[in-house]
Amino acid sequence: MVQINENFLKLPGSYLFSEIARRVAAYSEANPERKLIRLGIGDVTRPLPPAVTAAMHAAVDDMADAGRFHGYGPEQGYAFVRNAIAEKDYQARGVNIQPEEIFVSDGAKSDCGNIVDLFGPDNKVAVCDPVYPVYVDTNAMSGRAGDFDEEAGKWTNLVYMPCTAENGFLPELPQEPVDMIYLCFPNNPTGGAATRDQLKPWVDYANRTGAVILFDSAYEAFITRPGVPHSIFEIPGAETCAIEFRSFSKTAGFTGTRCAYTVVPKALERGGASLNAMWNRRQCTKFNGVPYIVQRGAEAVYTPEGQTQVREMIACYQNNAKIIRDGLAAAGLTVSGGVDSPYVWARTPDGMGSWEFFDRLLTQANVVTTPGAGFGPSGEGYIRLTGFGETGATREAVERIKQIL
Ligand code: MLT
Repeated sequence: MVQINENFLKLPGSYLFSEIARRVAAYSEANPERKLIRLGIGDVTRPLPPAVTAAMHAAVDDMADAGRFHGYGPEQGYAFVRNAIAEKDYQARGVNIQPEEIFVSDGAKSDCGNIVDLFGPDNKVAVCDPVYPVYVDTNAMSGRAGDFDEEAGKWTNLVYMPCTAENGFLPELPQEPVDMIYLCFPNNPTGGAATRDQLKPWVDYANRTGAVILFDSAYEAFITRPGVPHSIFEIPGAETCAIEFRSFSKTAGFTGTRCAYTVVPKALERGGASLNAMWNRRQCTKFNGVPYIVQRGAEAVYTPEGQTQVREMIACYQNNAKIIRDGLAAAGLTVSGGVDSPYVWARTPDGMGSWEFFDRLLTQANVVTTPGAGFGPSGEGYIRLTGFGETGATREAVERIKQIL
């Protein structure tokens, strides 16, 4: 009889966003006359920038021409997009990242999940609490998380770093030794962002102890404050201790198009091995690259027109986040995030549970949110709302919420 990966059996019910989708679908089916406004999953609503679609149309034409057709591309991504990323996202900010350190992929979610392939089973993993569930679930699937303690809502072998109102939603260095440290800034779900000075101790810790920082900066395009770095590699020393995940999803509207990238510096070595070489080996074996058409679209993000269009799109989502933040604050809720992030993190009223408030907003205001408890125990008592909706609908959602409060 085949042996299955029993770690899957330890996972609680379903993936957070699938569970929310299930509840929302059930409610919609029972109440088809209710018009829901969705501020739950962080999915973009505006169309792709015209510079991107023009480049993709041209790439389709390439694919229809025998002389310009592309079959399998390089597993790491085409040079044209790796060069653009290195130059515009890093070197232009004074960060020395080279194209060979960039691996283009179909999503930051996949990369965050796949990166665990590089690490041994006995590593101690530290995650923020609340946390994007992918970091936790993928370590649980690969046996690094121990068992799920239902009562505590935690995995027995993970180190949870609480991010609460008391510490400004920024984790503190763990009290016990850890090997793999997941950091996400601007943060999903709290919307908090760490400054250079706040990130430096993490880089120093990882270099001192031999840990690796897995830095998710999928939301960097939303940063507004000058002291907040867009990349962990803006912190001196990060090239010897960090891997960074970035995505075109939230930056350029690619959630349905799929393109992202991971930066593994050549200087990053552990156990006598180059992690850049290991990731390259892994990608060559398990991944055949992002479609040529999509990579041409991603390249167009870096053109002057592309940059202008992307900035307009981000500004619109930032404005939505402000509408939510200001509106909920005016209604008496305690809110944070929404300044360097599309996410607003709001305290539930009167100590109400996250799922209870989620249900109340769904059934009474017909607004879909994300219950904070779904992101970990320290998310209890909060809900997350996203600025990725349409502006009119976002305003209406805020009005509806105000009315029921
Ligand atoms: C979220 O809502 O947290 C994101 O959409 C999840 C993701 O990017 O996978």
